[in-house]
Amino acid sequence: MAETDRVELLSSVPLFSALSKRQLKGVAATALERTFQPGETIVKQGDKGIGFYLLLSGNAEVLRAGQKVGSLSTGQFFGEMALVDEQPRTADVKATSAVRCLVLNRWEFWGAVGQDPEIIRALFVETVRRLRAAQTAPGGLTE
Ligand code: CMP
Repeated sequence: MAETDRVELLSSVPLFSALSKRQLKGVAATALERTFQPGETIVKQGDKGIGFYLLLSGNAEVLRAGQKVGSLSTGQFFGEMALVDEQPRTADVKATSAVRCLVLNRWEFWGAVGQDPEIIRALFVETVRRLRAAQTAPGGLTE
């Protein structure tokens, strides 16, 4: 995909909405674009991982020990947990449609955060939302 299209897509990702065009260009230039087929596993529970994934298009489901614990759609992100604490992946993320992702490695991710600390805030808000959902879901932490 052309860089201008990538910048356009990135600017529509809520996490990066506060970045300037110049900063988005920087992210778009270094990140890797990857596509996945429906049914393909994008990240695997237990694996080491340094990739942070932005879902540019498509849908995916999150499975822990084979059980669905969440779903992800265009504009959302995943893979931040293993990247942040350098521990194994907490879940599988599996494409449920054709998926296109932009993948940032650890250094690119922290580089983007350095450009705008608002990214951490947005990331934290989403992490708390997912934690809350996990706690109230059947079979979640409180049930
Ligand atoms: P990570 O552990 O690196 O790899 C699996 C990813 O799945 C994880 O990061 C999160 O981004 C995502 N994930 C884990 N649990 C949930 C959940 N309950 N809802 C949505 N996404 C999740």
